[in-house]
Amino acid sequence: MAQQPIKHFLQFKDFSREEFEHLFRRTGIIKERFKRYQPYHPLADRTLAMIFEKSSTRTRLSFEAGMHQLGGAAIYLNTRDTQLGRGEPVEDAAEVISRMVDAVMIRTFDQEIVERFASHSRVPVINGLTNEYHPCQILADLYTFLEHRGPIRGRTVAWVGDSNNVCNTWLQAAEVFDFNVHVSTPPGYEVEPERAGLYGTDHYEQFADPMEACRDADLVTTDVWTSMGFEAENEARRQAFADWQVDAEMMRVARPDAVFMHCLPAHRGEEVEAAVIDGPQSVVWDEAENRLHTQKALLEYLLLGRVEE
Ligand code: CP
Ligand code: NVA
Repeated sequence: MAQQPIKHFLQFKDFSREEFEHLFRRTGIIKERFKRYQPYHPLADRTLAMIFEKSSTRTRLSFEAGMHQLGGAAIYLNTRDTQLGRGEPVEDAAEVISRMVDAVMIRTFDQEIVERFASHSRVPVINGLTNEYHPCQILADLYTFLEHRGPIRGRTVAWVGDSNNVCNTWLQAAEVFDFNVHVSTPPGYEVEPERAGLYGTDHYEQFADPMEACRDADLVTTDVWTSMGFEAENEARRQAFADWQVDAEMMRVARPDAVFMHCLPAHRGEEVEAAVIDGPQSVVWDEAENRLHTQKALLEYLLLGRVEE
């Protein structure tokens, strides 16, 4: 019998809408069980290797705690302390690491690195953030929207700020789930559809004025002005992005029931006003918590396939 190709989660569009709907169903079940302190250990004796080339709080903690809660184990590898940091080829590292563990999560710079790793891996590989994409974040964000406001299909998401990894992933999600993204970036920081990995331009619209992008939106979201790896541009970005701060005025022109999201970490007074992120429309803490629950469903799916119960 021909062997099934290994399923990876390297960018959002690697999964179909139907697969995400399965993950959301499983997330609900796994989350509820966890809240009731009911043990669920389907990943006993399974191990996840987590390779970090950039800093992290949420991603590390949610994957590590998630594996533990599912009965398995997680091993944290910092590139600096491994042979990867001393020039061992990514392909060789993938061959070796994937013979010792059951899944690998990588946070690194170029998307190409996770793609090369995956193409030499015997086990599923998960993108824990690259310069281009952050699929696990939008998995949690969509689940959070579903919990608070229902299905996202046909809704409008306003993205204010940098057309970065998180923005690109929102744009891919819009194609998968059929919703619209209103993007407003400063000049020179516009969406690059090819880099974003988009099929077309039907699911987003660019706005020069961030206020216009937020008008009638169901969800307003933003992210840091300077992402990890781009620190050298910090000063130039500070100036370019000064008018791209999500403030109370922007939330006022959005729909009255609009929610505010931020992947975190946030910089109050830069990309978001404190009154917004700490205000009644903000769902950022639920969003962060859902990294845990959605990724547990993702790990279950990648390691065990479709669990139905
Ligand atoms: N949102 C997110 O990925 O956070 P960390 O950088 O803390 O992992
Ligand atoms: N865009 C940010 C997200 C951090 C979770 C970064 O890449 O630094």
